[in-house]
Amino acid sequence: MDTVSYVLAMEEISKVDASASVCMSVNNSLVCWGLEQFGSEAQKEKYLKPLAAHGIGAFCLSEPEAGSDATSQRTTAEDKGDYYLLNGTKNWITNGNSANTYLVIAQTDAAKRHKGINALIVERGMPGFVVGKKEDKMGIRGSDTHSLMFSDVKVPKANRIGDEGFGFTFAMTTLNGGRIGIAAQALGIAAGAYELAVKYAKERKAFNKHLAEHQAIQFKLADMATKIDAARLLVWQAASLKDQKKDFVKAAAMAKLFASQIAQEVTTEAVQIHGGYGYVKEFHVERLMRDAKITQIYEGTTEIQKMVISRELLR
Ligand code: CAA
Repeated sequence: MDTVSYVLAMEEISKVDASASVCMSVNNSLVCWGLEQFGSEAQKEKYLKPLAAHGIGAFCLSEPEAGSDATSQRTTAEDKGDYYLLNGTKNWITNGNSANTYLVIAQTDAAKRHKGINALIVERGMPGFVVGKKEDKMGIRGSDTHSLMFSDVKVPKANRIGDEGFGFTFAMTTLNGGRIGIAAQALGIAAGAYELAVKYAKERKAFNKHLAEHQAIQFKLADMATKIDAARLLVWQAASLKDQKKDFVKAAAMAKLFASQIAQEVTTEAVQIHGGYGYVKEFHVERLMRDAKITQIYEGTTEIQKMVISRELLR
């Protein structure tokens, strides 16, 4: 399907389960799209077809000491002729334990900085590759987030994506598209919380009338709906530009920046409308508020989106 269809699906799934939608977003936007765009025919045959049919992929960029500062990769891929020797640790990897195909970003020639980085396809079960601890997270708790350890893992040269030194550009380009998926996820979390708030406001009575009849609640709902529509238009704009093969980098970063911000605001207001019920786990809005936070952090923090947007504006 095209990107517009994809964000529609992402929004709907995220309304009820942001853990399922991040699994979907990483697998589609970062792993499958990356392989489809930049993989060799042999890589597509061996890895993309099974991924599209039944597999799950993981995108491995972040490290204990390299999150936003992604060029400072400590994981090394030493060139050994017909293979790379992979050593290092990756952190906070979505689908870390459920994936069977991992795209791992690693430094081959540190002197060349980002131009010495490669993207390698690593299979689960390759000797020396160990899945580490599962993170105990605030939200999206149904999505498995793990550290990964690589110790003298022999990765065939045939598993390098693109030319030697293409790995950082590969990571940045796939992340540009990935941000549209996360923006759609944030939008869905906000829309899900809004729908629950409207339902609750029509059911619950206080001071002899429904909450929805109080202007204080009506104005909250008006603000929430306006923010959601604005975010939706930014998400659709970015998706549409990508589908038209036009430059979508700024639009994707703006969509993610804005949608993740309003997801905080809307879920917080939805909890507020629910009062005490909103604060207990029995009510779904409590979960949505916790799930919203990560959308301001992964696939580029709020601050990174502002860097990307301002660089595009001033270029
Ligand atoms: N698109 C394409 N290329 C880009 C790019 C972009 N948005 N941003 C930078 N690049 C290119 C630059 O053009 C440059 O290449 P050339 O020299 O060939 O022109 C190269 O990347 C290095 O760029 P800079 O010199 O500007 O590098 P920098 O260190 O100053 O900044 C950065 C780079 C934009 C801050 C980058 O490190 C970045 O985006 N960091 C955030 C990383 C991130 O999003 N991590 C998310 C982890 S993945 C995840 O969360 C998945 C999950 O599981 C949910």
